[in-house]
Amino acid sequence: MFTNDTLKGRTALVTGGGSGIGLEIATAYARLGASVMIVGRNEERLQAAAEGLAREGGPVQTRKCDVRNYDEVKQAVEATVGRFGSLDILVNSAAGNFVCPTSELSPNGWRTVIDIDLNGTFYGCHAAYPHLKASTHGGSIISIITMLGVTGWPGAAHAASAKGGILSLSRTLAVEWGGDGIRVNTISPGPIGDTEGVRRMYIEAGKGDLEAQKTALGRFGRKEDIANAAVYLASDLGNYVTGENLIVDGGRWLKYVAN
Ligand code: COA
Repeated sequence: MFTNDTLKGRTALVTGGGSGIGLEIATAYARLGASVMIVGRNEERLQAAAEGLAREGGPVQTRKCDVRNYDEVKQAVEATVGRFGSLDILVNSAAGNFVCPTSELSPNGWRTVIDIDLNGTFYGCHAAYPHLKASTHGGSIISIITMLGVTGWPGAAHAASAKGGILSLSRTLAVEWGGDGIRVNTISPGPIGDTEGVRRMYIEAGKGDLEAQKTALGRFGRKEDIANAAVYLASDLGNYVTGENLIVDGGRWLKYVAN
């Protein structure tokens, strides 16, 4: 759908790029000409992902990194620039979550998810800033959130709060860093059928049809739907878009509000 040179000459760093939506975005970027660094906590998963990415053509690099650790994030950013010469696109896709009633959630459980999702995103943005500012294409930050961070997410107060915080952080940075030529956006995926999370939480729990019917389109999305949105926002196609939350949820949020 996009031409092969849509992201030619750009370098992207994708956190959580070893699996799921992060890997799908990294794959689309590599296919469209970008050099890609994927980071994550699991080295084996990163290696397997890199082998698949290499088949897409673009140069690929991996690095073990826990986004809860600012120094590791900064080193990953520096390694990206050291290897590819620039950093133009940051995708914050690393996330952690589990379902737990808030009354039973331990302070450490709360802190763990806030650390991965919200603090990890801040660390990425902060470490990448000088390089994104120097990008000849104009820097682009894309963070993966969910509209459950806006509506509230019973059973996942930590993740809801983190995702809501990322939305606010992104809008803030869009204004603060707009003058530096950096665009800052979020994507809110709906239920994506070919992800581990939806498989585990809905399909294997026998709630697949019920959850699909909660969307206006009556079906789950696919990872490539999110990757296409991430290409649009990272490329010149989205050149005047900043501070936006692109909702790619098959109308789930709207149906929730309308009903
Ligand atoms: N229910 C309640 N509390 C939980 C929990 C659950 N299912 N999973 C973790 N916690 C709590 C732990 O009990 C611990 O708190 P404590 O010290 O008070 O007992 C705290 O969270 C940290 O847990 P730990 O397992 O040490 O953290 P971790 O860094 O190894 O992993 C996650 C944290 C979020 C990544 C992990 O829960 C996980 O693997 N989740 C599933 C995978 C995932 O999140 N994928 C992304 C989907 S968006």
